[in-house]
Amino acid sequence: MSFTEEIKKRRTFGIISHPDAGKTTLTEKLLLYGGAIQEAGAVKNNKIKKSATSDFMEIERQRGISVATSVLAFTYNNTKINILDTPGHKDFAEDTFRTLTAVDSVIVVIDVAKGVEEQTEKLVEVCRMRSIPMIVFINKMDREGKDAFDLLDEIEQKLNLHVTPLSFPIGMGYDFKGIYNLFEQNVNLFTSQSKQYKGETIAINDVSDPKLGSLIGEKSAQTLRENLELVEGVYPPFSRDAYLSGDLQPVFFGSALTNFGVRELLDCFVSIAPTPRPKKADEREVSPQEKEFSGFVFKIHANMDPKHRDRLAFVKIVSGTFERNTPYLHVRLQKKLKFSSPNAFFAEKKEIVDVSYPGDIVGLHDTGNFKIGDTLTSGETLHYRGIPNFSPEHFRYINNADPMKAKQLFKGIDQLMDEGVAQLFTLEINGRKIIGTVGALQYEVIQYRLEHEYGAKCSYENFAAYKACWIDESTAKPDELSEFKRVKQKFLAKDKSDQLVFLADSQFSLQMTQQKYPSVQFRFTSEKVG
Ligand code: G4P
Repeated sequence: MSFTEEIKKRRTFGIISHPDAGKTTLTEKLLLYGGAIQEAGAVKNNKIKKSATSDFMEIERQRGISVATSVLAFTYNNTKINILDTPGHKDFAEDTFRTLTAVDSVIVVIDVAKGVEEQTEKLVEVCRMRSIPMIVFINKMDREGKDAFDLLDEIEQKLNLHVTPLSFPIGMGYDFKGIYNLFEQNVNLFTSQSKQYKGETIAINDVSDPKLGSLIGEKSAQTLRENLELVEGVYPPFSRDAYLSGDLQPVFFGSALTNFGVRELLDCFVSIAPTPRPKKADEREVSPQEKEFSGFVFKIHANMDPKHRDRLAFVKIVSGTFERNTPYLHVRLQKKLKFSSPNAFFAEKKEIVDVSYPGDIVGLHDTGNFKIGDTLTSGETLHYRGIPNFSPEHFRYINNADPMKAKQLFKGIDQLMDEGVAQLFTLEINGRKIIGTVGALQYEVIQYRLEHEYGAKCSYENFAAYKACWIDESTAKPDELSEFKRVKQKFLAKDKSDQLVFLADSQFSLQMTQQKYPSVQFRFTSEKVG
């Protein structure tokens, strides 16, 4: 198969949702279609349940499983599908944001009863800013939920999207009869007797065909006809170009648990979802078709075995082929590195591969060379963009609880920050270290891992901050900037890449500061998204 054919064959995407909307169940059903797993339940164990908060063994166990399921690859209809796992747990949201830099499209799962939820809003916003093509899957149609039109409205309003349904439900919950597929023009009947729906799909090219009434009953047929007329009147026709540019989001309805509407979703996905897309580097845009290899690290996973401190760096291939035992330039370190055992991922296992193509993810064993966001190339100096840090929501001082182990503690903190577990800020005034996280759970993970992997002990102390605001020193008026720095000295810190950050203690003080020093611009991410 030629290089171009290999690229065309690939679809790399992520599934995003609020916890419990059905992401895990849908992932599993997709894998079953690909023949990648034999039974349901295989992916399920990967979930980081809320109860994990104080159960360290559980966190460890799940870290282990999540290495294996970080990338789930399978082949369906001669298409190589790579699903990148995105943790649904709010405390791991940053991990999800970073993973979204490595996907070419996403499927958004929404619970028909709950509608658009908080976490979905945040994740979709990131995708929208990056113009990532999105397909929406409204799940749990076997249960009572919101009216389909109301839900489509809610999606447009709350998520700021332009949708067009490609399937439409016939009834719902107890009265759920199936789905009309506008994309394929057929009716897919739902039989609730069997939990594992096998599928009876009947072609109905024209909904005025009386056959429809005999299939779903006259009343339902009439309602469906009216609904489809409304759909046609209200929503734009599907356009693949508009979908690919992020301007139109097709919507499917189904029930992942009963495996209903999943095949339709997958078939449509395979036919419309983008092949690996070009990616912007600081220097230029890079096309997947380019022969020279380039890729970037979007995730780092620590080894489970504390005796071997090596880690697995996940690299998304942007262009060219990645080959085993070939020297590549680590751009940040300006150093050539060779990898003798790059891993490729399959449904439940990883294997050493010789050649990988754009769209693929390779896992590289790393002894501390990589940071999230690093670029690897065949030789060109490129810096891929778009892995920003977001302002943390929690801030605490980290103290050394065992003076004999200071070196281990700093090494541990350093490496955990490179993995993206949390963010480190060093106060300008006294050099004290502050850890910022998205969720409180990370503090426990950090403490546990410092002790078990580095033999260091830490304690925390509250630091009252509301937000981390990154400051662009180059655009501020010099006088204003130095006055601001003098007055706010106590609240200034440097992040890990030496950028100046203002740790505002409250929303009020942030507003006052903005008013007082208007030329000092604050950003809530370490770089502009996009
Ligand atoms: P998540 O990864 O998005 O967090 O959601 P997950 O797939 O784990 O699904 C959350 C719950 O919703 C699960 O129930 C799952 O069985 C159920 N679910 C998923 N899809 C459907 C669907 O189409 N219809 C219905 N009725 N339920 C669905 P649970 O009780 O929390 O877990 P479990 O005990 O079933 O494992």
